[in-house]
Amino acid sequence: MLSRRPLIAGNWKMNKTVSETEDFIRTFLANWNRSEKSEVLLLPPFTSLTCAEELLQGKGIALGAQDIHFEEKGAFTGAVSATMVRACGCRYVLVGHSERRALFHDDDRVVSLKLLAALKAGLSPILCIGETLEEHEEVEKKITSQLAADLAGVDQKTAGKVTIAYEPIWAIGTGRTATPDVAQETIAMIRQWVAANYDEATANGVRILYGGSVKPENAASLLAQPDIDGALVGGASLSPEAFAAIVACVD
Ligand code: PGA
Repeated sequence: MLSRRPLIAGNWKMNKTVSETEDFIRTFLANWNRSEKSEVLLLPPFTSLTCAEELLQGKGIALGAQDIHFEEKGAFTGAVSATMVRACGCRYVLVGHSERRALFHDDDRVVSLKLLAALKAGLSPILCIGETLEEHEEVEKKITSQLAADLAGVDQKTAGKVTIAYEPIWAIGTGRTATPDVAQETIAMIRQWVAANYDEATANGVRILYGGSVKPENAASLLAQPDIDGALVGGASLSPEAFAAIVACVD
């Protein structure tokens, strides 16, 4: 019997001020049917972490950051470390999101360093991987090369702390979703890679999410797939009602 608890994560990207964060959380809590079946995670911008942490106290919702620098501290103007977000109450952090890779030049070396920095600080990294439309024909090649490079340095003992998010880049923010079958097939392939490179127990335990235009209308069919352990939601997570509706697809 598999015991992977589904994770529904809302990645707000560069959206919401502190007062908009307060409004979101109040409305979400009013719409959310709390259940232990899934784990709910909010990933607000850095500026909203403290306010979100206070409002989420005792509510059973996890908090995470969208990015970190891989260094612990020092002269890195504008950057924020894993220890800092941990001290703000974060349990999770995204690493390797396609927007970070494309717009901020986070290559696999940087992604791997960030992932190790997250683990060192006691955060659970969510490693985002995915292919562009041009790479779609050779999706396995792209995904396995990202996994090998980004997880370099992660040993058997710590691999279980990593969550993987498969996000086809052509589906992010475009309204185009991978069909449940295609997402399932790629995610099953990722799990096989984990089994081959770590072991069966790690592969059976690791949570692998799907991301890319997840909405209340398509979430249930994606989340019903045997290897899809949750969703990384961008656009639809900005609406508390839509995000609560996606969470309800698990419960
Ligand atoms: P989207 O974003 O749901 O708006 O496609 C997903 C993501 O970037 O994580």
